[in-house]
Amino acid sequence: VLSEDLKAPEHFCGQYRNKIIVAPMVRVCTLPFRLLALEYGADLVYSEETIDWKILRSNKRENVGLGTTEFYDRTDGTIFLSTCDRERDKLVVQIGTSDPDRALRVARFLEPYVAGIDVNMGCPKEFSIKGGMGAALLTNPCKIMAILKTLVKELNVPVTCKIRILPSLEDTLQLCRMIEKCGVAAVAIHGRTKDERPQHSNHDDVIKRVTEVLTIPVIANGGSKEINTYKDIEEFKKRTNACSVMIARAVMWNCSILRASGLLPLDTVIRSYLRNCIYFDNPFTYTKYTVQNMLRDLQESPRGKAFLETQTFKEILTIWNLDDEYAAALKDRQRKLESIGSCVEL
Ligand code: FNR
Repeated sequence: VLSEDLKAPEHFCGQYRNKIIVAPMVRVCTLPFRLLALEYGADLVYSEETIDWKILRSNKRENVGLGTTEFYDRTDGTIFLSTCDRERDKLVVQIGTSDPDRALRVARFLEPYVAGIDVNMGCPKEFSIKGGMGAALLTNPCKIMAILKTLVKELNVPVTCKIRILPSLEDTLQLCRMIEKCGVAAVAIHGRTKDERPQHSNHDDVIKRVTEVLTIPVIANGGSKEINTYKDIEEFKKRTNACSVMIARAVMWNCSILRASGLLPLDTVIRSYLRNCIYFDNPFTYTKYTVQNMLRDLQESPRGKAFLETQTFKEILTIWNLDDEYAAALKDRQRKLESIGSCVEL
């Protein structure tokens, strides 16, 4: 089975053609951020990476008060994915895995709720590499084939992977050709090697060379350092010759970069993000991390310093004058809970 070449159907590939995609970002890409990105114009949004073991330990439930489906860890109750109908055909969930059977079990569990499943093959962090996941897969073609072909054969949603480039162009091209033959609907390429850091320049030329040898959509990633406006997103796409682009940091810094009609003031973006956090009960630590990344240099301002001192969600909301909306949202949620009941296990 593994020696057979597979080909993704065109309607799967089409989902990744000519798209602006929000990259997976741990702690940032939870439901409130993803919905904001979709509102500003993103075509597809990736979730943060979740490790297969964690998904295997999870249950799912309808959260009636929030109108969401939640996947939560049975052992500690933490929610690793919360999603809703509004993003169902736009959400790609990224998994971290080193094993085809585990990958398939978790992908089947998630499949009814997502537009696609992505396998992380780029994470350079020690916990990923040690577990044979993320960028460790880049030098393990047999494992890549086993994981991707198993998912492609068994799932009814498109499968993609997100890779980094290898130190040599030839090796990168060979890797990408092999990945295409696994039947994935697209491949996202971060134009840096495993050992290069975000401040290194992105190898746009290598991504361009890959587009010349593949027929499936290539999604270019790694361009944020040069992206300050919507037009720069188009420039990145042109430079790499990719049919789609995937943006991480530039979207995190000011999500309204996704608007063809122009950037919004950062404060407007933060308030909209916080409103979504109120509405979907985003965990405090994730909210704080994301706002902190949005503020960047402004953390040095008096308000930025006050923000850094906050220890509760409510304290953050006070800084952006959202106390009344929080109180109203809590009341509304309580009313829903009383009239419809609480969570329903699925
Ligand atoms: C990331 N990145 C990342 N990549 C991935 O495949 N899975 C993940 O969960 C994460 N998490 C993550 C969190 C944060 C805060 C950042 C900034 C980045 C990497 C990201 O998706 C992307 O590949 C790089 O940031 C390069 O793209 P940009 O930032 O130049 O557009």
